Amino acid sequence: MNILVTGGAGYIGSHLVHDLVNTDHNITVLDNLSSGFEKNIPSGVEFINADLTNPKLVDILRNRQFDVVFHFAAKKAAGESMEKPELYMRENLGGAVNLISLLPALGVKYFILSSTAAVYGTPDKIPVNESAPTVPINYYGYTKLAIEQNLAWFSQIYGIRYAALRYFNAAGYDPLGRVKEREKGTANLLPVVLETVSGLREKLMVFGNDYTTPDGTCIRDYIHPSDLASAHMLALDYLIAENKNLTVNLGTGSGHSVMEVINAAQRLSGLPLKYEIVSRREGDPASLIADQNLARTLLNWAPRHSSLDSIISSMLPLYLK
Ligand SMILES: NC(=O)c1ccc[n+]([C@@H]2O[C@H](COP(=O)([O-])OP(=O)(O)OC[C@H]3O[C@@H](n4cnc5c(N)ncnc54)[C@H](O)[C@@H]3O)[C@@H](O)[C@H]2O)c1
Repeated sequence: MNILVTGGAGYIGSHLVHDLVNTDHNITVLDNLSSGFEKNIPSGVEFINADLTNPKLVDILRNRQFDVVFHFAAKKAAGESMEKPELYMRENLGGAVNLISLLPALGVKYFILSSTAAVYGTPDKIPVNESAPTVPINYYGYTKLAIEQNLAWFSQIYGIRYAALRYFNAAGYDPLGRVKEREKGTANLLPVVLETVSGLREKLMVFGNDYTTPDGTCIRDYIHPSDLASAHMLALDYLIAENKNLTVNLGTGSGHSVMEVINAAQRLSGLPLKYEIVSRREGDPASLIADQNLARTLLNWAPRHSSLDSIISSMLPLYLK
């Protein structure tokens, strides 16, 4: 099949591209390299350096046909999306709408979206399952929900089958070392912890230790990008075999507190980590954990690389080099 991967030079997308290149599909990556790296793209993959928001996208992709699109390209910082909603409107909504509007002309039958747990906002019930209300509390989460809804319409009208994969917190790097560059411009906990342990950052701010969790710090569900990549392949198999759309959470079903992450990073690196407890941030739920039974049942998927120790161990070579 002909497969287009938008954002395939980025952190999570490149993990999938490295797996896809070992199959007999033809792979094309489209990326503007705003936060991705050409070095992350393996040989044997065609690279189009282009921006999805370009009004001439139709010309850039003219005369091409793709059976499948994996759509990773987006901006992803929830906090930033509340400061610069116009940017997220243009990049996430604008880029996706520009792409989705071309799907019928490109002959696309299957579309796999990088969605997010942020579509749920602050869920009433933890672990959160896919039928929980979708009430995003940041503009980033809203953009992903709106893209899911556009896909539902295009599915109904054109028969395109889509998967909305709602990732929890992605962390870790390819255990085989094929992804060469560190994730760019992220404010997520694990990279910040690794930056502190490796001396790139002086100290880590812990936002609140008075939550209703065993040690008082926030708990999140961390999922390794290699496990996300395997879920993408299985999601494509599902769309083809079942001819049905799919919306599933991708997490492990268990979480780790900020203090657990700090302690594990110190233990595994053998290095000290300076941190300071500061007040809570607005909009941080105490705990966010996926109910991932649906992905297990429908896709027969199970995370293999997502224990906290595996995640941190896979990050150390890129931070301590
Ligand atoms: N990292 C996480 O924890 C997480 C969690 C949930 C969902 N997601 C989603 O997963 C996807 C991938 O995230 P990531 O962590 O790999 O981020 P990333 O920033 O490393 O990757 C995004 C890639 O898309 C490219 N890109 C961005 N805007 C573009 C545009 N307008 N045109 C062409 N290319 C463009 C970037 O250059 C980059 O290579 C995103 O859609 C993100 O919202 C990520």
